[in-house]
Amino acid sequence: MLDQVEEVASQANAELQKIASLDELEGWRVRYLGRKSKLINILRSLGDVPIEERRTLGARANQVKVGLESRFTQKKEQIELLKNQSLELEKIDVTLPGQPYQVGRLHLTTRTIKEICDIFISLGFQIVEGPEVEWEHYNFEALNMPAEHPARDGFATLWADYKTETGARPMLMRTHTSPVQIRTMEKAKPPIRVIAPGRVYRYEATDATHEWMFSQVEGLAVDKNITMADLKGTLFEFARRLFGQDRKCRFRVDYFPFVEPGCEIAIDCFVCGGKGCRLCGSSGWIEILGAGMVHPEVLRGCGIDPEEYSGFAFGMGVERIPILRYGIDDIRLFYNNDLRFLKQF
Ligand code: PHE
Repeated sequence: MLDQVEEVASQANAELQKIASLDELEGWRVRYLGRKSKLINILRSLGDVPIEERRTLGARANQVKVGLESRFTQKKEQIELLKNQSLELEKIDVTLPGQPYQVGRLHLTTRTIKEICDIFISLGFQIVEGPEVEWEHYNFEALNMPAEHPARDGFATLWADYKTETGARPMLMRTHTSPVQIRTMEKAKPPIRVIAPGRVYRYEATDATHEWMFSQVEGLAVDKNITMADLKGTLFEFARRLFGQDRKCRFRVDYFPFVEPGCEIAIDCFVCGGKGCRLCGSSGWIEILGAGMVHPEVLRGCGIDPEEYSGFAFGMGVERIPILRYGIDDIRLFYNNDLRFLKQF
């Protein structure tokens, strides 16, 4: 029996060394010091052992028991300490200041488009969109500009070849947002109140005042009894909300093939108040958009009877607005992605 005690002692010590968790340690305690363990059984049955053996066996078994108990306590403390240390290492100080990270922002053009759209939405208009790659039909023909029409010269067009089995259909990068007028009138019946923001393209050598891509916002209202008074009221209201309530508006005749009559709207220069300065080219006025009454031929082409309905349309360049407001002297700054420029807005 003494051999058994020694065996238990060495086995228990060997196992204890490999133990790393409190759960394992508890298993170990049950196995070697529990009520059903070998060692405790031996101690319990000492009374049956002959008297001469009893003393040495009893003394040794007790010694082993006490030894294992104190190792158990030691090991337990050790494991708990390690655990606390690793918790200590994992601790984070939530009061430390965070790492600042770069917050993005909307591009100046996007913000201007939103601002324009908000005004027209409040006036009852709805936003629509059209494709940037467009058929010649929508960009020119349906807008009263057949091939060879001199007004086409005003649009330096980027053509895209598009071939089908039946031959080539002329396609292009839209030169203005006006084709969206046609697409809208083909689909929807009056009353129509829409605005169409989007990109347009021109085959143009870039310089401080020309870009090959820029943005426009188109507007269209078609209904019974729409007159130039509606056009004026709507656009004057728009100009004042965008540029300030006390802006004066100038309304002059202009020519676009798809409107009749056509006009141009200018505001009095907000830098010099109309006296004449560099911004307004000493004229005192700044042109902000082109507009007019939708041409009867254009309405008819879209299946809308010009005897019954009339409408007005307008179009404006988007970049021009922040250019005027902030005195940006080069349109190329908008799209060459220099953060030093973009971050200012
Ligand atoms: N599409 C014209 C342009 O790009 C602007 C315009 C739109 C004029 C609608 C009249 C009516 O110059």
